Amino acid sequence: MSAAVPRPLTACADGALSGVAAVPGDKSISHRALILGALAVGETRISGLLEAEDVLNTAQAMRAFGAQVVREAAGRWRVHGLGVGGFAQPDAPLDFGNSGTGSRLVMGAMATTPVTATFTGDDSLRRRPMGRVLEPLAEFGATHTAAEGGRMPVVLTGAADPICIDHTVKVASAQVKSALLLAALNAPGRTRIGQRALTRDHTEKMLKAFGADISVEPISGGGETISLMGEAELKPVAIEVPRDPSSAAFPLVAALIVPGSQIAIPGVLLNPRRTGLIETLWEMGADIAIANARQSGGEEIGDLVVRHSALKGVEVPPERAPSMIDEYPILAVAASFAEGRTIMRGLEELRVKESDRLAAIAAGLAANGVRHTELPDGLIVEGGAVAGGGTVATHMDHRIAMAFLVMGLAARAPITVDDTRMIATSFPEFEPLTTGLGARFDAAGR
Ligand code: S3P
Repeated sequence: MSAAVPRPLTACADGALSGVAAVPGDKSISHRALILGALAVGETRISGLLEAEDVLNTAQAMRAFGAQVVREAAGRWRVHGLGVGGFAQPDAPLDFGNSGTGSRLVMGAMATTPVTATFTGDDSLRRRPMGRVLEPLAEFGATHTAAEGGRMPVVLTGAADPICIDHTVKVASAQVKSALLLAALNAPGRTRIGQRALTRDHTEKMLKAFGADISVEPISGGGETISLMGEAELKPVAIEVPRDPSSAAFPLVAALIVPGSQIAIPGVLLNPRRTGLIETLWEMGADIAIANARQSGGEEIGDLVVRHSALKGVEVPPERAPSMIDEYPILAVAASFAEGRTIMRGLEELRVKESDRLAAIAAGLAANGVRHTELPDGLIVEGGAVAGGGTVATHMDHRIAMAFLVMGLAARAPITVDDTRMIATSFPEFEPLTTGLGARFDAAGR
């Protein structure tokens, strides 16, 4: 984290938003591009890489395993890979900061190579469960020690004689699935990973682009099985990282709730496993147009035009959760301004994100006069005009900070978030980009 003291910020309603919101590169794809680049033989070139703290920590970890990772210009990176099985022993603990994704994917990437690494992170990451990745990695032959409850610091030793596995992922998690696929790359034979929930598939797509022998079969009754042949040789590719829909979600909802607004968000990733928020907002009556739908680097992208809209409450299907898992904080904000009730269920995974997001959202709503009910696995929001005037505890969670700053742009009274430092983990440009659209943020207490 950049600064040692909390950095509060206050958001106020100050007129319509307009202009172009060029949000940064997708976080999920950026992590994967660096890791697969490090596992390929030769040079991978990346453009549009997200240069946020989470991704920079993954870049640093790849260097610690011996890959050459070079920043050539803004967003333009070059990775000289070591080949599958080529990771060297890092000589210091790997600090992943706030990033569950970076740490879990890298655990997978090293789990079938005989090196030992220590994984650690900030207070938020050290509270998050790692057993969900470490236990299935043990099936490949990896061993580990962890703090109580399978938490960091974790010391992981990769298998010297890895074996391929047949495993069904127990939680709806792309991180777990991806960690196992990365581990399978160096396990002789064919690994099969089953998943009931259709989580984001960037790892599968990128592995295919790098030349891995990978196939995906639907399971009757729902879900799919991914098969990957081990002892893979990955060939480097050029990767263009599309803009992150999970970051786009903040200016998008800001434009919907601030009267008179109209903004454009170009080149956003529109992979169908990431578009649950847009679908939900459409059902709520949002005016979001997609222009120029096209393919870029094997992923669907498009340009969004968003106009202020009168929203109404909806019931969000629980099975949609994996395709918008990071978007519930900002959906709760949209729901607060919608007429009527919005019901969100199937969200037990939100309890183990950067914070307990259900509790953090509920507390933020309470502080700003939004009627709601927190459920063990969900949230019910009663929308209408938002009083605001509250201070929101962000609990080291970037998305809680950004969501409630957006709420402040349309609430009757300003809203303060107690700390904005974590925004740098995923969207360092959030503040200048949003003020560039006409939003007003004041350093709290000034
Ligand atoms: C991610 C998967 C999701 C998401 C995270 C990024 C990924 O986590 O919340 O921000 O890149 O695979 P889970 O897979 O644990 O739900």
